[in-house]
Amino acid sequence: MGLVKIPKSAIEFFKKNQDEIFNSGSLSEGPWIDKLSNKIKTIAGVKNAIPVNSNGSGLVALLLIFKEYFGRSEIMIQSNTMYGVRTICGTAGYKIVDYINCRLETLMPNIQDIKDSINNHKGNLDNLVIMLSDIGGIINPDIEKISKFCKEKNILLLEDAAHSFGSTLNNKFAGTFGDAGVYSYYSTKAIFAGEGGVAVTNNEKIGGLLKDFTAYDRFKQKMPIGCNIRLSEMQALMIFSVVNEYKTIIKNKSKIAEKYIEECEKAKIKYIDQNKNSNLGNYYKFTIISPNGNIDKVFPGIKTTTSKVYDYALGKNKEIPKRHLCLPIWYDLDNTISDKVLKELKN
Ligand SMILES: Cc1ncc(COP(=O)(O)O)c(C=O)c1O
Repeated sequence: MGLVKIPKSAIEFFKKNQDEIFNSGSLSEGPWIDKLSNKIKTIAGVKNAIPVNSNGSGLVALLLIFKEYFGRSEIMIQSNTMYGVRTICGTAGYKIVDYINCRLETLMPNIQDIKDSINNHKGNLDNLVIMLSDIGGIINPDIEKISKFCKEKNILLLEDAAHSFGSTLNNKFAGTFGDAGVYSYYSTKAIFAGEGGVAVTNNEKIGGLLKDFTAYDRFKQKMPIGCNIRLSEMQALMIFSVVNEYKTIIKNKSKIAEKYIEECEKAKIKYIDQNKNSNLGNYYKFTIISPNGNIDKVFPGIKTTTSKVYDYALGKNKEIPKRHLCLPIWYDLDNTISDKVLKELKN
């Protein structure tokens, strides 16, 4: 955690505006929540953006809304995702009916994997949600096809965009491909502000329900569900300040990635290209893969690594944890670290 560096301009913006919060006396449910919401709406090109105190709380709230207002109670998630995605489903009272197969090339499922899971599914599709996680900083390359398929089958699609704020596919922003999506700004994420998230949706009904949910619906008093999962004004300002710099952060990381790519190409090492087939990733992770064997056996000399995505599988795909590794890549990464990595790649 000590390695997280916030861009100086973001810190200056935060400092410049924090007094306004102190002077206003509005420490919560004030203007910065709205400012953050409007900023995300503009950046992501989405109709509704609801700040929440974590990606996880936003996903739980959306699942509860899908249950209460859209009759959903069963869910499929991908095999390769954070363990917490599983607990999110349990917390919202869902039955997990499958862990969808994932591919080493993307660490995510493709359209065929989704179709296979649906073909094997015995239950009713009208009560099903599919929650897919964008892994490592790129949007699932098949998400447009998956979204179309889900619409045809009346399956609700929830995009866990915890990793992918700032990434686009065909110029469309992460989080906007399904019925709703949620970003994370947790300390170690691609765009990081300590804690917090923003849920986005183009569905006005879902957006309205989520906004009321976060206020316990205490103004309209119609909903049977709801909880305070809001951000404080200070944290909303913090996220706003860092989001101001999201392009700078991605640019900085892309430069590190370019150096790694050059060395991987020379050494014929396979890596996950984040700028391929209309995908523009945020380089949350730089991932190397070894399709033909365990990565630590194939590349024993690569020692300077960071946490995998992931070193466990929730369902199938026991090979994925063994066949990939992630190289250090974060904003303002110390040259001594990247140079060490480059040397190891070369060797
Ligand atoms: C794939 C994935 N989904 C969801 C989350 C949860 O994000 P948050 O910590 O903001 O709740 C994480 C965070 O680690 C994640 O990696």
